Amino acid sequence: MAVDLLLGLQWGDEGKGKIVDVLTSKYDIIARFQGGPNAGHTLVFNEKKYVLHTIPSGIFHKEKINLIGNGVVIDPVILNKEIENIKAEYVDITKTLFISRKAHLILPTHRLLDAASEKSKGKNKIGSTLKGIGPTYMDKTGRNGFRVGDLENENWKTKYDELSKKHQQLINFYNVELNFSLENLESEFFAAIEKLRKINFVDSENLLLKSQESDKSILAEGAQGSLLDIDFGTYPYVTSSNTTAAGACTGLGISPNSINDVFGIFKAYTTRVGSGPFPTELFDEYGKKMSKIGNEFGATTGRPRRCGWLDLVALKYACKINGVTKLMMMKTDVLSGFDKVLICTKYKYRGQVIENLPYDLSDSSLEPIFEEFQGWSEDLRKLESADDLPENLNNYINFLEIQLNIPIVIVSVGPDRKETLFR
Ligand code: GDP
Ligand code: IMO
Ligand code: MG
Repeated sequence: MAVDLLLGLQWGDEGKGKIVDVLTSKYDIIARFQGGPNAGHTLVFNEKKYVLHTIPSGIFHKEKINLIGNGVVIDPVILNKEIENIKAEYVDITKTLFISRKAHLILPTHRLLDAASEKSKGKNKIGSTLKGIGPTYMDKTGRNGFRVGDLENENWKTKYDELSKKHQQLINFYNVELNFSLENLESEFFAAIEKLRKINFVDSENLLLKSQESDKSILAEGAQGSLLDIDFGTYPYVTSSNTTAAGACTGLGISPNSINDVFGIFKAYTTRVGSGPFPTELFDEYGKKMSKIGNEFGATTGRPRRCGWLDLVALKYACKINGVTKLMMMKTDVLSGFDKVLICTKYKYRGQVIENLPYDLSDSSLEPIFEEFQGWSEDLRKLESADDLPENLNNYINFLEIQLNIPIVIVSVGPDRKETLFR
């Protein structure tokens, strides 16, 4: 049985959590393949809202397996808080949540290193969520990391102490002022480790291989978005993992030829939280309206998200890099009531018109070239069928489908599970 992937095509927060939850009923296993608690995936159902950071978004479907793959980095303190939060839904995580032994742990000193690194960068800071993501992946690729499976070794504390000591030297090296009590952070961490041991640790690549052999269906859930990919994103303003389709292979141990559909998910406009280039960013009333109606504040840090028009040049690039087979357009309802809607189809760059992403999106000569579409005013949240979408919105959708040559199979018209139109 094949594996389907779902991933973000922009700078994150496209609505991945909502759609994974909507699609989960079709799958046996939902598996997160990269990122960590920098992610904030929001699910809304039965008038309740949950934000997941590390736990896959299929967790509320009680008969399904949810796997945190080897490519994910885990902060046990945050994971435990998530588990506490979802208890209200009577989810028995001892039966349905599994963690890869090969996933790396975020230590308290990784978080401190993240803070020290950002502080030392001053105005050039990445705008990190400060969850320790960069330093943890650095230790992973530097072959110094601390993995979930290490907790099963009786000498785990020695390994922890050695790594923590090294981090403390590095923190001193940054020579910036940080206010923290390592003692407090560590006591919280060690308490969380003991709780973590209640979750099933597995060799997840084997679990997934066996599942495939017995015809179980798998949905791989991405975090962040393609433009935050460590290789193909707007480097250095990116995260520290491969958020693109290839990340699912390394982050779960699935082979490229086992991948079937790649669901690419994007907002009907664009947002970005944190620093870095954003060619279609708006600083006018249109941008403010998107931010207000779309309630554009980060699900993890609460920071305001920057807003702008849809960037088709960037979207085309993301679709190609990922081999997207089906598209899902999110937050379409937010644009209702705009007199016009713009799509960036080309860039002006160093005196030329280009249709591809240049090496450096922060080049000061880069300017978006827009095509304008007539807006629509209907309240989409009330619609029950994609057949009833207003004509002007259909024009917008048809233009994108033709340009991208990929069908848009879902139009999302509200945060709730139910506010999802299939085409
Ligand atoms: P993720 O990180 O990709 O899972 O996305 P986030 O949860 O960080 O951000 C998406 C935000 O938009 C959340 O607050 C969702 O509840 C909300 N949302 C998702 N889909 C829609 C939609 O179609 N319309 C509106 N208005 N909100 C949506
Ligand atoms: P989800 O999964 C939006 C951004 C941060 C920062 C950069 C690096 O909810 O879509 P990091 O903490 O990784 O060092 O931050 O990446 N970022 C996200 N932006 N959604 C996310 O996740 C993000 N995860 C990281 O704001 O600019
Ligand atoms: Mg998010």
